[in-house]
Amino acid sequence: MKVQLYVPDGRYDPWIEGFAEALPEAECVTWEGSRGEPADYAVVWRPPVEMLRGRTDLKAVFNLGAGVDGILRLRDEAPDALPAGVPIVRLDDAGMAAQMAEYVTHAVLRYFRKLDAYEAQQRAGTWKFLKPHRRADFTVGVMGVGTLGTHIARALAGFGFPVRGWSRTARAIEGVSGFYGDAGQSPFLDGLRVLVNVLPLTPQTENILNAGLFARLAQGAYVINVARGQHLVEEDLLAAVQAGQIGGATLDVFRTEPLPAEHPFWQEPRITITPHISALTLREDSIAQIAGKIRALRAGQPIAGVVDVQRGY
Ligand code: NAP
Ligand code: GLV
Repeated sequence: MKVQLYVPDGRYDPWIEGFAEALPEAECVTWEGSRGEPADYAVVWRPPVEMLRGRTDLKAVFNLGAGVDGILRLRDEAPDALPAGVPIVRLDDAGMAAQMAEYVTHAVLRYFRKLDAYEAQQRAGTWKFLKPHRRADFTVGVMGVGTLGTHIARALAGFGFPVRGWSRTARAIEGVSGFYGDAGQSPFLDGLRVLVNVLPLTPQTENILNAGLFARLAQGAYVINVARGQHLVEEDLLAAVQAGQIGGATLDVFRTEPLPAEHPFWQEPRITITPHISALTLREDSIAQIAGKIRALRAGQPIAGVVDVQRGY
């Protein structure tokens, strides 16, 4: 059995060593070193279009992340970019859900406890009491309550915040008010104090964080985007923050990454920026999950995380 790897940074050794340990029955090779040779499985992150185009040898393609937009976008470059009938399998948690819950909970608590304002006061040498928010009024909405969003919503509910979740289809999560579909979007958004976006990037969700959506939230609401930069209309957010409609934002993802030095977000103190680190791909967990799924496929068993390419996630 041959596993072919592609990672954009070209740092293959730890991956090859990891697969050798977790899946000793496989020969693990780099795509660059085995171009044109058949393989059984591909393990990739943001592969070039030439890697998968027209392939008839592969039994599955494993994506080294939860979001599959980096693979599905290849169809824009070539209609036959993805091997026909070959399942694309995403990472399903693999240690990301706990990271996301930590990151988002930290951002919500920082805003709720006004720690960002106290940090600004410290810089100015000011000792001043700020009126706290009331927890019961502090409704947090999570857009996308799948693998990661469910974990985030549960963590926030654990702090006693009223939490809403929005999904495409109905989802029941204990302690979380559920909303779904287009009809559920307005009641989900109305009056939210914090909006968390953890949706997949699809044609339906691109640019979803825009001026019209911001206007539905409570005055001075906070926005947290941990999904994809293309979800956010960046100039709408900047205008809403400058107008006071949005109180601030924590952004982990951007339309252009790295965020260009001249981008106005860098100069806006109410926007907190991190470099796409809210949930990192953990090598050991990811290799263990993929090795387990390869074994399951070889035994003819079903696996979780198979992407619906028409739906886009
Ligand atoms: P997932 O399990 O597939 O969950 C996606 C959720 O979004 C589901 O609840 C789904 O609804 C909902 N959804 C999809 N399209 C929708 C629509 N049009 N309207 C309403 N709800 C919609 O995905 P996941 O594993 O939680 O990952 C989510 C995303 O997080 C990834 O796609 C990736 O972009 C992002 N991510 C970012 C980082 C980072 O470091 N910044 C790391 C990992 C992942 P249903 O439940 O009805 O299907
Ligand atoms: C990271 O952004 C992922 O989709 O896993």
